[in-house]
Amino acid sequence: MTWLITGGAGYIGAHVVRAMTGAGERVIALDDLSAGVPARLPDDIPLVQGSSLDGELLKRVLAEHAVTGVVHLAARKQVGESVAQPTRYYQENVGGLATLLEAVAGAGIERFLFSSSAAVYGNPDVDLITEDTPCVPVNPYGETKLAGEWLVRAAGRAHGIATVCLRYFNVAGAATPELADTGVFNVVPMVFDRLTRDEAPRIFGDDYPTPDGTCVRDYIHVSDLAEAHLAAARRLTSTGGSGGSGDLTVNIGRGEGVSVRELVTLIGEVSGDSRPALVEPRRPGDAPRAVASAALAAEKLEWTARRGVREMVESAWEGWRLHHPG
Ligand SMILES: NC(=O)c1ccc[n+]([C@@H]2O[C@H](COP(=O)([O-])OP(=O)(O)OC[C@H]3O[C@@H](n4cnc5c(N)ncnc54)[C@H](O)[C@@H]3O)[C@@H](O)[C@H]2O)c1
Repeated sequence: MTWLITGGAGYIGAHVVRAMTGAGERVIALDDLSAGVPARLPDDIPLVQGSSLDGELLKRVLAEHAVTGVVHLAARKQVGESVAQPTRYYQENVGGLATLLEAVAGAGIERFLFSSSAAVYGNPDVDLITEDTPCVPVNPYGETKLAGEWLVRAAGRAHGIATVCLRYFNVAGAATPELADTGVFNVVPMVFDRLTRDEAPRIFGDDYPTPDGTCVRDYIHVSDLAEAHLAAARRLTSTGGSGGSGDLTVNIGRGEGVSVRELVTLIGEVSGDSRPALVEPRRPGDAPRAVASAALAAEKLEWTARRGVREMVESAWEGWRLHHPG
């Protein structure tokens, strides 16, 4: 097998490259470097700089490297930006995927893994979100992920491609400080950013119907997430191919809720800066609770997250300090 990893120079993509090469898989990365960092990749991993929207380039890369499976992570991922620029998000996330799937089908590739998101569910009022929980995304980013899943399954059926869609919950942490998330779009780096600016962390709403009144989320260590990709790739290798298709859509979380207040307290302990958080009004669209059922992943991928929230925060903090000296 040779795997093309799109978005391979990104935060999660670089961890997927690391997990897959560490397990002996041959990979090449493709990234337009709009948010990717080439230094995240080992020197011996080929990196093609280009876009998932460039069909001719994709055809060439798939043929030249004799690619036999694709892990597609390349996408735009900022919810607020997707509300402001929906056409761009549909074009890049859905259009880029369609272009890639066309090249994949044309090259006769029979294995495809797609980065989806818990954003497909919107704000369901359930204790644990299972894969059967209705998908009602509440922003264009989530819509592009749901439309992406539909497209992946349809292309799989039409062209005999075995497919897996992984719905990630809240990703945090780093395998090494160099691979840490450098963006400030998720809650952990957002709190680090506040502390670095000598400002108190912010909590949006403490009057939700949750044990401590703050929102509850399911955090997953990026190294566990990367191992889930390896497990899914191995499943595709053993079940896909020879026209034998089949699709699997699965949550990737820990199945355990952590409140924003618990997370902020932990960040205070790890960073040594435990100043009290500022409680601000609720943000529109925030669900009180979003926690995965992790049962299907355990059953179908034989994968379960191993790392806890403290390990996520500690590794993320080390990475933050490397990228923000002083
Ligand atoms: N980080 C999270 O919490 C989270 C949660 C759920 C799902 N996801 C999904 O995981 C994937 C990776 O996210 P990430 O956090 O690593 O983000 P990231 O921005 O670090 O990585 C995305 C990578 O894709 C590249 N890219 C973007 N558009 C491209 C295009 N059209 N062609 C080629 N390369 C392109 C970027 O340069 C970047 O390196 C995305 O699909 C995202 O939607 C992330």
